[in-house]
Amino acid sequence: MELFDVYPLYEVTPVAAKGIEVVDDKGEKYLDFYGGHAVISIGHSHPHYIKRIQDQLHKIGFYSNSVKNPIQIELADKLGALSGCSDYNLFLCNSGAEANENALKMASFHTGKAKVIAFKNSFHGRTSAAVAVTDNPKINAPINKQQEVTFVALNDFDAFAKAIATNDHCGVIIEAIQGVGGLDEPTSEFYQFVAQKCKQHQAVLIADEVQSGFGRSGKFFGFQHHGIQPDIISIAKGMGNGFPVGGILIHEHIKASFGLLGTTFGGNHLACAATLAVLEVLEKEKLIENAASLGVYFADKADGIENVKRVKGRGLMLGLEFDFDVADLRKRLIFNQHMFTGGAKDKHVLRILPALNVTKNKIDMFFNALKAELE
Ligand SMILES: Cc1ncc(COP(=O)(O)O)c(C=O)c1O
Repeated sequence: MELFDVYPLYEVTPVAAKGIEVVDDKGEKYLDFYGGHAVISIGHSHPHYIKRIQDQLHKIGFYSNSVKNPIQIELADKLGALSGCSDYNLFLCNSGAEANENALKMASFHTGKAKVIAFKNSFHGRTSAAVAVTDNPKINAPINKQQEVTFVALNDFDAFAKAIATNDHCGVIIEAIQGVGGLDEPTSEFYQFVAQKCKQHQAVLIADEVQSGFGRSGKFFGFQHHGIQPDIISIAKGMGNGFPVGGILIHEHIKASFGLLGTTFGGNHLACAATLAVLEVLEKEKLIENAASLGVYFADKADGIENVKRVKGRGLMLGLEFDFDVADLRKRLIFNQHMFTGGAKDKHVLRILPALNVTKNKIDMFFNALKAELE
C-alpha cells in the first residue's frame, strides 16, 4: 500500500528532537521556528512531558467516557485556573477541527439556528462545518458547501452589523490572530463590537484559539488582549505539544445535557496527562511571559531588516511580511540554514512559531540565517 499523496513534502526526515532543535536521519540539526504548524509549545521531548505521559501509560492509557476519569477533572481545574476561565466547562476531543465542529454544533443547538458568520481569510479546519467556515473554496467539497456561511471582512464594522442584524445566525467564529491566513487580527474595537452584537442578537461568539491559545500570543488566550468574553473557546495544537488533543470551553450559561456531545477518544487518560504536563511547564517555566517578551525582542530585531515590510502578530505567533513570494526563501532557510519556518495563505508572509521556551540566542541565530539568505 502507498500513502494517499496529499502532502507536498520537503526532502527532510526528522528522527529526533529536543527543545527547539530537530535532528534528521543524517544527523543534521535544524532550529524549529515552526513547531510543526504551531503545535510544539513547551519544546520537543520536554523531560516533564515525557515523564507525565510515561507514568500515565504505566497506569492506564485509555478507557471510555462512560466511566469516571478523575484526570479530566484535574485538567479542567488546572486549565480554568491558569487561563482565568474557571467560569467555563470543558469538553475534550481530539483536534482543532473537531473542537470547532463541536463549538458550531453547540451554537446551533443553543440557538436553534444554522447559519454562521465567519471572516475572510479564516481557517478553522477541514471537516464538515469547520471547513465550511474556512475561507478557502478549494478545500470545500460540495457536501461542505451545504452549510450556510456569511463571510465578512475582518474589521468591517458595517458589513458585520448588517450580517448579524438579519438575526438568522447561530454564531460567529473568529480567530484572535489569523494563523493560516497570514497573521491579520481584529482590532480591539472590532472584537468588542462583534462581542456586543452577538449578545444583542443572541448569536454564540466562538473564539477559535486553536492556534493562538495556550500562551502563544503572550497571554493565555488571544482574545484576552481585547477585553471580551466569548461564549465558547476552541483549543488544540499547543495544548498537547504534539499529542493529538483538542477541546472546547463552554461558558456556564450554556447548559449541558446527557448525549449532547460525545467522542470515543476525546479526553482519554494519555491526552489529559499530556495537556496537564503542558500546563505545568507553562506555569513553572513562566513560558507565557517568555512568549510576550521574546515576541517584542523578535519584532525589534525584525525592524532592523530592510526587506521586512511589516512584522505581524504578537507573542510568538508572528509573521514577517515581504514584498515577494516567500516559498523559495523558506526552502533556502531549511536547506542552507537549517531553520524551519512556515508559509501562509498570504504568499508574502513567513510564519514564525517557535516553542514558547525559545531563547534570545536562538532568535539571534534565526536573524543571522535570514540575513544571510536575503543578501
Ligand atoms: C485557527 C485554527 N483552527 C483550527 C485548525 C484546525 O486544527 P486541526 O488541524 O487540528 O484540525 C487550525 C489548524 O491549522 C487553525 O489554525
